[in-house]
Amino acid sequence: MRRAGLIVIFATLLVGCGGGETVSPTGEVEGTLPKAAAGNPAQGKALFTSQGCGGCHALKAAGTKGAIGPNLDQSLKGKDEAYIRESIVDPNAKLASGFQPGIMPNYGEQLDSKQVADLVVFLSKQQS
Ligand code: HEC
Repeated sequence: MRRAGLIVIFATLLVGCGGGETVSPTGEVEGTLPKAAAGNPAQGKALFTSQGCGGCHALKAAGTKGAIGPNLDQSLKGKDEAYIRESIVDPNAKLASGFQPGIMPNYGEQLDSKQVADLVVFLSKQQS
């Protein structure tokens, strides 16, 4: 009988495939990739002051007048979030023109990723 023959072949294939282990397809996966925490600009402003950024940077929105580092109202014009993030977590990677490396502390070691996101959003909002 044709049908019986097919069943035998099918059964043999199943056994051949790793002892009948069931692997079910998971279907489309949506929204499970961990997203970087969204930054909160109000928190960013508070961090800018509490972390001492204002001691070195002038920034109108934070009311700070530090002059050791660049004036962020001016120097960040046209810079995107990726640049701002890198400037905070790896300050020596690209230097603001006219400034020396090694002055700005590496905040990548001191702040968690949420705090960095807060600062980045806060700073990028000042540039528009
Ligand atoms: C001890 C002084 C000092 C402190 C504190 C400091 N910075 Fe800086 N920062 C600098 C100097 C100097 C530069 C320029 C050299 C460079 O690009 O790393 C700079 C550069 C930057 C830049 C890039 C500016 C540009 O136009 O390229 C950003 C953004 C920045 N700092 C943000 C911060 C934030 C946010 C904090 C607080 C979490 C902070 N800084 C704390 C001294 C400081």
